[in-house]
Order: sequence, then C-alpha cells, then structure tokens
Amino acid sequence: MSNVRPETMERITTRELADKFIEEQIKEIREQVGDGKVLLALSGGVDSSVVAALLIKAIGDRLTCVHVNHGLLRKGEPEQVIKVFREELGANLIYVDAVDRFLDKLAGVAEPETKRKIIGAEFIDVFAEEAANLEGIGFLGQGTIYPDILESDGVKAHHNVGGLPEDLQFELVEPVKLLYKDEVRVVGSALGLPDNMVYRLPFPGPGLGVRCVGAITRDRLEAVREADAIVREEIGKMDPAPWQYFCAIPDFVSTGVKDDKRYMGWAVVIRAINTVDAVTAESVELPWDMLCRIRDRIIETVPGVNRVLWDISDKPVSTIEWE
Ligand code: XMP
Repeated sequence: MSNVRPETMERITTRELADKFIEEQIKEIREQVGDGKVLLALSGGVDSSVVAALLIKAIGDRLTCVHVNHGLLRKGEPEQVIKVFREELGANLIYVDAVDRFLDKLAGVAEPETKRKIIGAEFIDVFAEEAANLEGIGFLGQGTIYPDILESDGVKAHHNVGGLPEDLQFELVEPVKLLYKDEVRVVGSALGLPDNMVYRLPFPGPGLGVRCVGAITRDRLEAVREADAIVREEIGKMDPAPWQYFCAIPDFVSTGVKDDKRYMGWAVVIRAINTVDAVTAESVELPWDMLCRIRDRIIETVPGVNRVLWDISDKPVSTIEWE
C-alpha cells in the first residue's frame, strides 16, 4: 500500500463503508502476511486497538499482541485491554506488568523531557525483550494513521511513546495508515470495539507520567489516577463534552485543616480544553455545580489531596498538558 491517499478514496463515514474497508483490509493483510506471524504493541488507544481487531479477523492467533503496563495508564485501562482483546476477541495477548521497572527508572527524575525519554526508551526495551522470546515473527503491526504520515513532525511523531526498536527487522503491517482519525473510529465501531475505546479521549503516550508533575512518586501517581477517573466521569457528562479534559497534580503541598489539625496535602488541577488541532486551545467554561461535585468527590475519596484548582489558561501561552 502506498503512503499517499488516492484522491478518489471515499471518506469512511458509515457502517456500510466501514464494512467494505474491513473486508478489503482482511484480504490485503492475508495477501501480505501469507502464513506468517505478526507482533503488535497494543496500548489500548484507538489506533492500535483497531489494528489489533482487524488483524485478529484476518489472521486469528497468528497475531501476538503485547500490552505493556508501564504504570502510567488511566484507571481501568489495562483491565479493559485484557477483557476486550483476550476474553472477548480471543486474542493471543501477552500482558507485561512493567510497573516497577518504569517507576524505578523514573524515581527522582523531574525534568519533563527526560521523563518522556526514559518512558519511551524503557518501552522499547520491554517490547524488544518480549519480541526476543517469540519465535517465527515476520511482521510488525502498527497503528499508523494518515495524519502521522502527513505531519511527520506532528504530535505523535514528536513525542510518541510506543515508537518501536529500529533493529527489529520486521516488515510493517499498517492497515489504517491512509485513514483519518474519525474514519478509524467508524471502523473501530464496525469491528465491535466498545465506545469508550473507540471514542477515547486523546491521551499522551507518557500517560499520567506528565500529569504527575515533577518527580513521580507512587502515592501521588495513584492520587492523580483516582482523581482523573472522577474528572473524566463528571466532565464526560457534558454534551458536547470538551475535546480533552483531565487533571494534573503538581509537586507541591499546601496547608489543609481537618478535625482542627493542620496538615500538608496536594492540589488537584482540573483542565478542560477545546481545540481543533491541539496547536492552539481554549479553556472550556465548566458549570459551577459540576466543579463543586468534582471537588467534593476528590476531597472525600482521594487520599492526600486537600485542594482543588481549575486551570483556565489558554494555549498559547500554556500548553495543554502541565509538562
Ligand atoms: P501540549 O501539552 O503540547 O499537548 O499542548 C498537545 C497535545 O498533545 C498531547 N501530548 C502528547 N501526546 N506524547 C503524546 O503522544 C506526548 O509526550 C505528549 N505530550 C502532549 C496532549 O495530550 C495534547 O492533546
């Protein structure tokens, strides 16, 4: 398949067109792979999930998926990958619990780009180790989509985690590389993937690692994961929901008071933005009652947090993520 989308290629907007695309891709994948075996890094993001579902349909258990849990995923994500792919779709899925490995490497590292580099490099190492344990792999599945090709300097290429080892001598299988994101979603739905996977919020490759600001500690990471689940549940009720919404926990403490005793605790920062291309973004006005509900739920249930803030900054000058 060439890397240029033909002008005549119809935009996939309906179930019918998605079914046709799926049928064609199954045929193409079978032609390319023959009786070979494919390896795929399955993050649980929409692109790699759609590629996994397509490959399962095309070649069944000759696909091996590797899901690396680096400890920086959102609440429930590794569990969902296992449930959907191993239990429901019958995928040959290797789940790698690499949480300690990543968090040990990240201990004490506060500089954001260094954190990104460590996460990216460790991911490659873990994946390469898993690949070395497997026999007969000839192909590497990848969730490249058309904007990745067009904007080779875009966000994904720029700071992507999940870039794979260059010395893995595998031929690439990239069945959605000519599709735009909205088309990938239509195809994902047609393949029967759950809505919360297909319409997943954009999530940075380094995950909660860049939302646990500064040097990551396990307790603050757990706090940001719990608070994030609350923020996503509440803001997700808005119609239309903002383009991206999440929270971060800065690496400072401030004073709280409970039962007449003063103590130091963390602050959760809520952020919700709208954007077209993530290059500029504007803060979204959140209803006061929603903010109060989020505040109450976080303060009542997330250990260590005694303050809730709302980040109303636009990009520029503030980036969308805190790091
Ligand atoms: P910023 O913070 O640069 O974010 O305004 C723009 C968009 O990119 C996402 N982002 C990342 N995505 N790896 C990614 O795959 C990263 O390291 C990364 N950093 C930021 C961010 O969530 C937003 O959607």
